[in-house]
Amino acid sequence: MLVKKMKRNFLGKSIVSVDQFSRQDVDLLFKTAKAMEKIVKKKKPSQLLKGYCVAELFYQPSTRTFTSFLAAAEWLGALTIPVHGMDSYSSAVKGETIEDTVRVVHQTTAADLIVIRHPADDSAEIATEFSYVPIINGGSGKKEHPTQALLDLYTIKKELGRMTNLKVIFLGDLKYGRTVKSLGKLLTLVDKKLELFLVSPKILQMPKTLIKEWQTKGVKIHETENLLPVLSQADILYVTRIQKEWFKNEKEYQKVAKSYIIDKKIMEKAKKKMILMHPLPRVGEIAYEVDDDLRTVYFRQMRNGLYLRMALLKLILRGNKG
Ligand code: NCD
Repeated sequence: MLVKKMKRNFLGKSIVSVDQFSRQDVDLLFKTAKAMEKIVKKKKPSQLLKGYCVAELFYQPSTRTFTSFLAAAEWLGALTIPVHGMDSYSSAVKGETIEDTVRVVHQTTAADLIVIRHPADDSAEIATEFSYVPIINGGSGKKEHPTQALLDLYTIKKELGRMTNLKVIFLGDLKYGRTVKSLGKLLTLVDKKLELFLVSPKILQMPKTLIKEWQTKGVKIHETENLLPVLSQADILYVTRIQKEWFKNEKEYQKVAKSYIIDKKIMEKAKKKMILMHPLPRVGEIAYEVDDDLRTVYFRQMRNGLYLRMALLKLILRGNKG
């Protein structure tokens, strides 16, 4: 399926891939997210989405994406219906397809929008093709996590005060991780001077097709297994979890599980004005002792996810007015 460009209008659209955004879309979304922050900070839930219903159909574990979409809908006054696709009482275990389940969820709940997370790379495309209502991709296989990339970029803008001229390290599992792929795409959209350092074990390198795509857009890319020689240049160190669930067996996973651990000593080698990001969950790759470092932003990053997802729901269901 061809990804349709947004043309500065989110109304009634599905969010499948970061590829569909223009620079103007990003600006509109961030402006709206800022307005959403006020609703939460003043503790005054809005009724903007009163009478709307948002369903979540998740076939993979999730804490952040699931709860923040749920909270986003609630803060805006919508009804919320969580559907756990992987539960043993869900029809997925009987072999029901995504094509059918998105239509079932719409009919049984009268949802106006469905957020979906699924292990198949093309799940969001399929859901969008068959759904009667807009779909938001809450993570599709190893391929895309567009709302995470948006909240990551929103965090970068807030924390560093800019989205350009960035030197960014992606560290960890760049093969199976979807967040870095979506964020890489989004960064190439907004930063024409982007320099990317892809640091991973050899067997977990970023797919070559993506690297080529970014290089064609003028991004300077360096691939290495070693963090220390490149660390001191970075404005952003974006750490990811080694994605155990995609490995063939425990032994293969153990070979790379402890490849990188960010601790206080490592942080001493990084710039004073740098930010340490992680989509979370972490499973040992960032030591707890780093949590108090002023450059650590992964907790604020999650709160930005709430604002950003509120903005998306508002723009898709109500448009740019009001
Ligand atoms: C990420 C995901 O699901 O891709 N989590 C998230 O949404 N914040 C990262 C991960 O699972 O490692």
